[in-house]
Amino acid sequence: MSLLEVHQVSQRFGDLVAVKNVSLAIEPGELHAIIGPNGAGKTTFFNMISGFYRPTEGRIVFDGHDVTAVPAHRRVAMGMARTFQITEVFPELTVRDNLRIAVEVTQGLRMRLFSTRAQTRATNERIDELLLLGGLTDYAERYVGELSHGDQRSAEIMMALALRPRLLLLDEPAAGMGNQETYDTARLIRRLHRSQGLTIVLVEHDMRVIFNLADRITVLTEGEILDQGTPDHIAASEKVQVAYLGEKHEGA
Ligand SMILES: Nc1ncnc2c1ncn2[C@@H]1O[C@H](COP(=O)(O)OP(=O)(O)OP(=O)(O)O)[C@@H](O)[C@H]1O
Ligand SMILES: [Mg+2]
Repeated sequence: MSLLEVHQVSQRFGDLVAVKNVSLAIEPGELHAIIGPNGAGKTTFFNMISGFYRPTEGRIVFDGHDVTAVPAHRRVAMGMARTFQITEVFPELTVRDNLRIAVEVTQGLRMRLFSTRAQTRATNERIDELLLLGGLTDYAERYVGELSHGDQRSAEIMMALALRPRLLLLDEPAAGMGNQETYDTARLIRRLHRSQGLTIVLVEHDMRVIFNLADRITVLTEGEILDQGTPDHIAASEKVQVAYLGEKHEGA
């Protein structure tokens, strides 16, 4: 069974149809990239998968459950986590405290007034584990707002991971980054994908990231699927080459 099935979803904003009749199946353990020019509908598509927008038409099935009408916070509880095109962290808190918030949310501790010593220990161990996995141990006590863009993004990705998702949705993880940060971010994503057996769907402009990471790629143009397949298939696709010729990309 696919982990995520998207059946012919569309999203209208008034007269504009931002996503038209898009279907997609994501298999467990897959790393799937969504690419396309600015305004192609990638973020809108993400917003529908994660529950921020309800599709105007179509159906979304996650882990065998129809989630089309399920709100975003409940999809998180079901095992979906996402990051945003613009990094969403608490800049005035330390990396450790950012992670603490995410871990405590997952453990439901914020609902309780007192936590036992065992709970506190479990929380701290989980935070240390996430810091290590995210390559953030040395920055644990730094304010997130003081970190480089790349390290802030790592912190955000690790906050999403704290939710123990089965599906991780990343919207342009390397947006606005230089070469080294882009490379580091791609390595982090690959490490999480491999070591955690995570299913990942990412939107990205940077072709180096996509062709190095993705098992499969979906190309969106003007809200519709132009082509879909392995990186080799997409690299050789005439339709894709025509669509991208003369196209300007951020970050590429
Ligand atoms: N909330 C909204 N209300 C109205 N129009 C919207 C809204 N969100 C997106 N759009 C429009 O839908 C189209 C697709 O936008 P979307 O942000 O999904 O594209 P994108 O592929 O993510 O682009 P980018 O690469 O620039 O991030 C655009 O024409 C955009 O202006
Ligand atoms: Mg976008």
